[in-house]
Amino acid sequence: ERVVKAGLLGLGTVGSGVYKLVECQKDEMAMKAGAGLKIQKILVHNMNKKRKGVDQSLLTDKWEDIINDDEIEIVIEVMGGIEPARTMILEALHAGKNVVTANKDLVATHGHELLEAAEESGVDFLFEAAVAGAIPIIRPLKQCLAANEIQEVIGIVNGTTNFILTKMIEEGMDFGDALALATELGYAEADPTADIEGLDAGRKVAIMASIAFHSRVTFDDVYTEGITKITAKDVEYAEEFGDVIKLLGVAHNTEGGIEVAVHPMMIPKEHPLASVRDSFNAVFVHSDAADDTMFYGRGAGELPTASAIMGDVIDVIRDIQYHCTGRISCTCYRDTPVKDFKE
Ligand code: NDP
Ligand code: HSE
Repeated sequence: ERVVKAGLLGLGTVGSGVYKLVECQKDEMAMKAGAGLKIQKILVHNMNKKRKGVDQSLLTDKWEDIINDDEIEIVIEVMGGIEPARTMILEALHAGKNVVTANKDLVATHGHELLEAAEESGVDFLFEAAVAGAIPIIRPLKQCLAANEIQEVIGIVNGTTNFILTKMIEEGMDFGDALALATELGYAEADPTADIEGLDAGRKVAIMASIAFHSRVTFDDVYTEGITKITAKDVEYAEEFGDVIKLLGVAHNTEGGIEVAVHPMMIPKEHPLASVRDSFNAVFVHSDAADDTMFYGRGAGELPTASAIMGDVIDVIRDIQYHCTGRISCTCYRDTPVKDFKE
């Protein structure tokens, strides 16, 4: 039986989830993907950290151990941040290695550069986990709804802020306490400012808009406003009107151009997005043929995110084994203008 080797970059919340899923799926991988999977090396920052349940001999703090290992065919990047992740991914793609990542910061700013590098080398660059955790949304936008003209993508795409708002609304919890709990549960980014200021959701909106509208929308194009100014009084006020406050990411493809924004909104309690609680996310898509579709699930956390990563990894293994591509083409896109909210 053929066994595909992978290099894992990062062993934090998501990396640990990936390691666990690989371990517990070991016996089924060949049946699911057509070949087995082995994590050959794991890149970490701090070699002295205690890591329970992990084969210590796999750990390294040297990128050379992964990039120079010709047996490694898949690089799974779950370190986060722009550098050194961007350089490592580019080197991996140029070396003919497939890459799977959860890094929305990187995809929202350098996605096209990375897709071009993947296309040049004829390998996969997949990032389902970068948007809305466990929810399948990249594939539906690029494949399942490919026959449609997508007009609108709206959603709750940040688990941390949805968790904080749920705790404030339902339990009267203080903002700071709710954020501390979200961090403890592994939902928040390394710097949670990205969550609470709407930047993380903005990155996800840019990625979804690029794919849904066949365009090149980057994070800089997205107007962002977070939830830091939401007070207990605002929550009460919304309640009086029969509404709840949610942080929404919105992408519209209009005649005049693409509109992309993230901001808090009061929505009626009967609205389907109002019932999306805790760290759950939901994405609503309106398109011409399919009409309305909605995707719901856990938007953050160890195993939900690892689930999306492993879906991509299985696609790559199938691709290696059967040449059935999971690639996203980067060469076909329109030059639709993106509206500037600052104007
Ligand atoms: P963590 O901070 O928990 O883990 C990061 C890991 O990367 C750590 O193991 C760290 O090493 C390692 N690392 C960081 N920088 C370097 C470096 N320069 N060289 C070597 N190793 C490095 O992050 P998360 O697991 O939460 O997130 C990882 C990625 O997944 C991010 O891009 C994030 O945005 C994305 N993501 C996270 C989700 C979540 O729910 N947490 C959900 C969806 C996406 P060490 O352990 O030694 O410190
Ligand atoms: N910090 C992110 C969130 C992780 O809370 O949604 C998932 O992308």
